[in-house]
Amino acid sequence: MLLRPDERAKLDSTDDKLFYSFPRFVTHVDDGFLQQLTELYRQRLQPKMHIFDMMSSWVSHLPEEMVFSRVEGHGLNSEELARNPRLDKYFVQNLNENPQLPYSDREFDAVLNCVSVQYLQYPEAVFSEIHRILKPGGIAIISFSNRMFYQKAIQAWRDSSEQHRVQLVKSYFTSVPGFSTPEVIVRASQTPNFLQWLGGGGDPFYAVIAYREN
Ligand SMILES: C[S@@+](CC[C@H](N)C(=O)[O-])C[C@H]1O[C@@H](n2cnc3c(N)ncnc32)[C@H](O)[C@@H]1O
Repeated sequence: MLLRPDERAKLDSTDDKLFYSFPRFVTHVDDGFLQQLTELYRQRLQPKMHIFDMMSSWVSHLPEEMVFSRVEGHGLNSEELARNPRLDKYFVQNLNENPQLPYSDREFDAVLNCVSVQYLQYPEAVFSEIHRILKPGGIAIISFSNRMFYQKAIQAWRDSSEQHRVQLVKSYFTSVPGFSTPEVIVRASQTPNFLQWLGGGGDPFYAVIAYREN
C-alpha cells in the first residue's frame, strides 16, 4: 500500500456526498489553467474516442470542435452532471466508498480527471480501475493545481509541496502494473504566491499522463 491510514484521512470525515450535495456552477481554477488543459486534450485526444471524464461536474474542458464517439461522466452531484453539455451519460458514485467502476474491461480510449485526484482516499484501487477500463494504448490524464477544498483533500496531499504532489500522482500510476512511465507537464505560476491567494490568477498547471501498455 502506498499510503498509511493517517495519510488517507480528511479533516472533514463526513460522507463526501453531503459536501457535494448542492451544485457548484463555478470553475475551480483560472482561465489560464483551463486553456492549458483544453490545449493538452486537443493534442492528446483523437476524434471518435470513447472518453470517461471521472470526478466531473458541469464542465469537461474538452475542445469544442472535437467530436467524440461517446463521453461518459461521473461525479457526486447529479445536477452539475445533468448540466454538462459534453456528457452522453453519467452516474453518481462515491469512490471513497466504492472504487469499482461500473464498466467492462478495456472499454475506454481515454480517462480524464481534472482537479479532483486529491480527494481520493484509496487511489491505488481507483488507478487500478482506470487501468482496467482503458483499452491497451489508452491514455489517462490527471490534472491539478494548488487549489483544493482543503477539508476534503487527503492528508498526504495537504501536507505536501507541489513537487511532492506530482510524485504522489506518479506513484499512483506506478503502483499499477501495466501503465507506461508517467509523463509530467508543468507550467509554474508566473504570479507571486500572495497574489494567487488574493485571487490574482496564475494558477500553476500540472498534468501527469500515462498510457495503458497491456
Ligand atoms: C473541484 S471539483 C472538480 C470537478 C470537475 N472535474 C471540474 O473540472 O470542474 C471536484 C469533484 O470531485 C468529485 N469528487 C469529490 N470527492 C469524490 C468522491 N469521494 N467520489 C467521487 N467523486 C468525488 C466531485 O464530483 C467534484 O465535482
